[in-house]
Amino acid sequence: MQKVVVGNWKMNGSREAVSTVLGVLAGRSFEPRVIICPPMTYIDIAVQQLRGTRIEVGAQNVSEFESGAYTGEVSAAMLRDLGCTTVIVGHSERRRNHHETDPEIAKKVERALDGGMNAIACVGETAAERDAGLQHERIRGQLSALRELLDVGFVAGRLSIAYEPVWAIGTGRAAQDDEIADMHRVIKDYFSGGEMSVLYGGSVNGRNAGRIVGLPGVDGVLVGGASLLAAEFSEICQAAVG
Ligand code: PGA
Repeated sequence: MQKVVVGNWKMNGSREAVSTVLGVLAGRSFEPRVIICPPMTYIDIAVQQLRGTRIEVGAQNVSEFESGAYTGEVSAAMLRDLGCTTVIVGHSERRRNHHETDPEIAKKVERALDGGMNAIACVGETAAERDAGLQHERIRGQLSALRELLDVGFVAGRLSIAYEPVWAIGTGRAAQDDEIADMHRVIKDYFSGGEMSVLYGGSVNGRNAGRIVGLPGVDGVLVGGASLLAAEFSEICQAAVG
């Protein structure tokens, strides 16, 4: 199966950085499916710059509402209108800093799918939860709102889960191979009946990407910091072959 590499730029970048990084990536051809998620303000220019390439553009968030009096929000239809194919939902930074709850995240996923986009729903346990042996329970809890809301048969192929242990994000300490393989199995088992695609995220870089993508149950990677560097992100894309 074709692997997926997603770049989450978070709140970084500028017009100049977009054109520099995407200029490099646009000139290369990668085997995996590659999706770049810049800040909302740069989606439009990213789509224009990547026109004619196979690289897709995604968003890092979407409103749970369809349209109307929701100041500051951006709807799924607007993202689709700009040319986004995908949206990341429920990243741990949004759960922590914006208090997003599992039911809200499920609503956002539903909006994205209804709006004709693919959704990547993020889940992950904290270090304290893992230390207490609660990681499986925590992940199943985060997934339950999605399973309740969604008819997995209907969304198959358009919904992916990103397993991103909170303690591995931005720390330079990716999860161990056995921890990744174990949790990906738990997530796939949870959606039995649907062939759920599961990505890993948390300190993925040019050196560990090939190994991580080769683990059982890993369909791709969600990359934060290393996706801002064209050379390193290219290395990750080259390493992530099926
Ligand atoms: P990181 O971030 O690759 O910088 O650890 C991953 C993410 O937050 O999606």
